[in-house]
Amino acid sequence: MTSNLRNKQIIVGVTGGIAAYKSADLIRRLREQGASVRVVMTENAKRFITPLTLQAVSGYPVHDNLFDVAAEAAMGHIELARWADVIIVAPASADFIARLANGMANDLLTTICIASQAPIAIAPAMNQCMWKNSVTQANLQALQSRDIQILGPVAGSQACGEVGPGRMIEPISIAEKMGAYFATGILSGRRVLITAGPTREAIDPVRFISNASSGKMGYALADAAREAGAEVTLISGPVNLAKPYAVTCISVNSAAEMYAAVMQQVQGQDIFFGVAAVADYRCQHIADQKIPKQQAERCLLLERNPDIIAEVARLSQKPYVVGFAAETHDVLIHAKAKLIAKNLDMIIANQVGNGIGFDSDENTVVLIEKEEQHALAKMEKSKLARKIVELVAKKLWSIDNLNCQ
Ligand code: C5P
Repeated sequence: MTSNLRNKQIIVGVTGGIAAYKSADLIRRLREQGASVRVVMTENAKRFITPLTLQAVSGYPVHDNLFDVAAEAAMGHIELARWADVIIVAPASADFIARLANGMANDLLTTICIASQAPIAIAPAMNQCMWKNSVTQANLQALQSRDIQILGPVAGSQACGEVGPGRMIEPISIAEKMGAYFATGILSGRRVLITAGPTREAIDPVRFISNASSGKMGYALADAAREAGAEVTLISGPVNLAKPYAVTCISVNSAAEMYAAVMQQVQGQDIFFGVAAVADYRCQHIADQKIPKQQAERCLLLERNPDIIAEVARLSQKPYVVGFAAETHDVLIHAKAKLIAKNLDMIIANQVGNGIGFDSDENTVVLIEKEEQHALAKMEKSKLARKIVELVAKKLWSIDNLNCQ
């Protein structure tokens, strides 16, 4: 089974219909594949399956009320809308479909659907006459024209005793289709090399110089590029993160080791993301024995490390080179200067300090090229990584098209 749902954040909307009992199975299957699920129920859904059941299978309290002050304070509707990587409404009743098609925001679920930028899919379930009714079909067309994906329904015997189209597709098929959302294929056939995390520059056998990079952005990019179909190699400094699935991982400590690994891997790569926070300096001499603290002042003579990304950008057969610039002030000015000085194709600039950037799960960035720049709103690093992959993939396509002309 695909692992594209690992760490994905999915809202399962449940509306009033007998197929609501299958939502519990859907939630279980999504979680089995590593997704984190939050459930949003309409009032009528609660007549068919209890919130307690869906709380038990999702592991979180169910959201059901737009005007519940306590629930809004914990995770408000806008926060939920932003949190979602994808929204699936299963089952979607004829009434819900009509309300969504007409832009209503008269309960929590419709409000979240309208407030979210995440892709939405619905799995309709209703009596076959209701399904065939021209008003339902017109509503479905309106949803499709807004890129809302309709999954099913299938034909068969119905709870009402009739036979025809209107049965919700099976939870296992819905879960598979959810995984496919992230397998965009926009980097299929491409090779992507990524550096991530900090480097450690040894002083003596027990001490080193390093920085606060968590590696989260580089690892998120490795996942996003792999999901987009690329063959990904990740060269990582020491971090506390699980190795990404189906990515070739090379662990290094120092900048010199990272440089050597990059130079060994770079040939034939289409994209290089230099996300690592590489130490600019290393010790001229690494002491064989622990340096007594009284002598430390005299021992720390430093020398420059190679600038890995600049070396990659200097290669005659260079990949598309993307750097990252973490700055505490004058972010755009410093980042643009680095883009030019290191001859990069793109630099992704972000502010660090005040709780955002290095160790946080969210980031606000600006993508800067020589001629243009593109600001992205504050979002989780996993979502940011998918956006960056999408934009870089488009760049590659336009470069390929230019070369073909
Ligand atoms: O450290 P600096 O702000 O110059 O980093 C900007 C970019 O250069 C980042 O993409 C970083 O990974 C890369 N870099 C590098 N080797 C260095 C220093 C920075 O690849 N020695």
